[in-house]
Amino acid sequence: MTMNRTTLNAYLEQEVSDPDLVDLIDRIASACWKISQVVRDAALNGHQGQAQSINPQGEVQKPIDLLADDIFRHSCKQNDRTSVLISEEVEEITQLRPSQQGDFVVAYDPLDGSSNLDVDLSVGSVFGVSRLAKDLKPLPAGRALICSGYAIYGPSTMLVLTLGTRVVGFTLDMGSEDYVLTHPDMRIPADTAEFAINMSCAPHWDARAARYVEQCVAGPDGARGKAFNMRWTASMVADIHRILIRGGVFLYPMDAENAGLGGKLRLLYEAFPMAMIAEVAGGSASNGKADILDVSAETPHQRTSVILGAQNEVQHFQSLTL
Ligand code: AHG
Ligand code: MN
Ligand code: MN
Ligand code: MN
Repeated sequence: MTMNRTTLNAYLEQEVSDPDLVDLIDRIASACWKISQVVRDAALNGHQGQAQSINPQGEVQKPIDLLADDIFRHSCKQNDRTSVLISEEVEEITQLRPSQQGDFVVAYDPLDGSSNLDVDLSVGSVFGVSRLAKDLKPLPAGRALICSGYAIYGPSTMLVLTLGTRVVGFTLDMGSEDYVLTHPDMRIPADTAEFAINMSCAPHWDARAARYVEQCVAGPDGARGKAFNMRWTASMVADIHRILIRGGVFLYPMDAENAGLGGKLRLLYEAFPMAMIAEVAGGSASNGKADILDVSAETPHQRTSVILGAQNEVQHFQSLTL
């Protein structure tokens, strides 16, 4: 049986009036296709284990963190209007061309969940695209994002995107090498009974995160009146993808270990794009006090706490007193 297939390219031609933006998203999609191959063949090509280098966050890089960064960077550079790149793996902002010649800013996490690489679990890439602000400051505002997305490298490779109106998911067809629209309207239900958190951080959580989780695990007789399930993949892309498919809430709250840094996850290339996706899908994304998209970015690798997913859960978290 032949099915009507909408490819990524056909979708973009229909939805995006700016041909240079179509070109950029297409190039990012091809970068993700290449990264999915590098991830799949890592053990065959000796790309597992650690590299000898440390990234701006003090993490030991893996060979694939670096390869993925190269692939992403090279692909974005080929777009004539991309002017600024901000990557998890590179300390400084990259100014590709003067602002008169290009106005796109791409912030990206080339490989998310790298601790899962050697154990063959899902990893991904995250990106946010914006236009340079009038004052030409290279750090974008969350509300200025014009496109956000992620790729997940799991049993299938998917590209999930939003241009601000809907969240859509494309599955990579390995035969034709096309991204095919398989999830035309991804939504996050307002309620859930599934949360995602790294429980081993419990001794370091602030009082509010401790209280929230205590209530979730108290079961039907506790304050929440229902039994919650818990999942943690340790790859933000995989944890948030699950929430877009079947609902839930993701938490990387402030903890004593990360308090001095401002949180664990990075604002520009992890939290902003995922927050835009969550909001467009009908969910919420908060740092515990304010919407993540309203937080202002002062430095490229700024960190934040993240509570993201089902609207009513995010609201409940925020309503708990410290
Ligand atoms: P990255 O691999 O890009 O550095 O990101 C890792 C992040 C995120 O994907 C995940 O949610 C979190 O770190 C996992 O943290 P824990 O190791 O504390 O579970
Ligand atoms: Mn990292
Ligand atoms: Mn990451
Ligand atoms: Mn990463």
